[in-house]
Amino acid sequence: MSQEIVIRRVTAPEIRARKGGEPIVALTSYHAHTARIVDNHADILLVGDSLGMVLYAMESTLGVSLDMMIMHGKAVVRGSKRGMVVVDMPFGSYEESPAAAFRNAARVMQETGCGAIKIEGGVRMAETIRFLSERGIPVMAHIGLTPQSINTLGGFKTQGRDTALWPLIKADAKAVSDAGAFSVVLEGIVEPLAAEISREIPIPTIGIGGSKECDGQILVLEDMLGYNPRPPKFVKVYGTVGAGIDAAVKAYAEDVRARTFPGDENVYLLK
Ligand code: KIV
Repeated sequence: MSQEIVIRRVTAPEIRARKGGEPIVALTSYHAHTARIVDNHADILLVGDSLGMVLYAMESTLGVSLDMMIMHGKAVVRGSKRGMVVVDMPFGSYEESPAAAFRNAARVMQETGCGAIKIEGGVRMAETIRFLSERGIPVMAHIGLTPQSINTLGGFKTQGRDTALWPLIKADAKAVSDAGAFSVVLEGIVEPLAAEISREIPIPTIGIGGSKECDGQILVLEDMLGYNPRPPKFVKVYGTVGAGIDAAVKAYAEDVRARTFPGDENVYLLK
């Protein structure tokens, strides 16, 4: 007798309910094969627009298009079963107006099957977050170091070193929470401020270069795998994938050059 096993995905309300509870495990994922692995352990798989820099060697995330995000979002949804897939809205796809943001976010959700989208910005995006949340689109917000604003921020700089600016960053956190975001990424925010925000707002905070007191953490998968030769300072590197690939490619090249790879008689045999 066969039995169908339905594996339900983590939802935005479930993540929202994790405030102050078991820490939320989040990682980026850009393709089906990494999604399959990340899905075994993470609550959230973020299809981050960091893919522009990590996969496509762009200098910033500004050149990433909606079509690229949809293509990678589809791959991650196909490759995963359990985790909530969140897709980043790329630069230029949501800032103009709440209506434009809705049109593009609805396209992302319809075409990828993801569970939520992420947008960068605090107070200035609150109206859009409310507009989307009230119309069936769960929004993860992203404040602090927002890479899409690199040109106005003047670089990838830690936010909140000047305590005079803390009230502005706190206002961003409160605004996205009040507007209905189900969680917020705190990127590159000095530790004591990220900790204070985590204590003060009622939605889960997901830190990246933030604080252990955040309700969850996210890293770019390739950074923590040891795939990036120069990961950001805050990243703990858990793997040696870059070195593993290098060793495998080297061994392959040596086999090819020495004509010691399997001959034709083996190549087409099924294992
Ligand atoms: O694009 C991305 O990968 C992100 C995470 C770093 C939070 O936004």
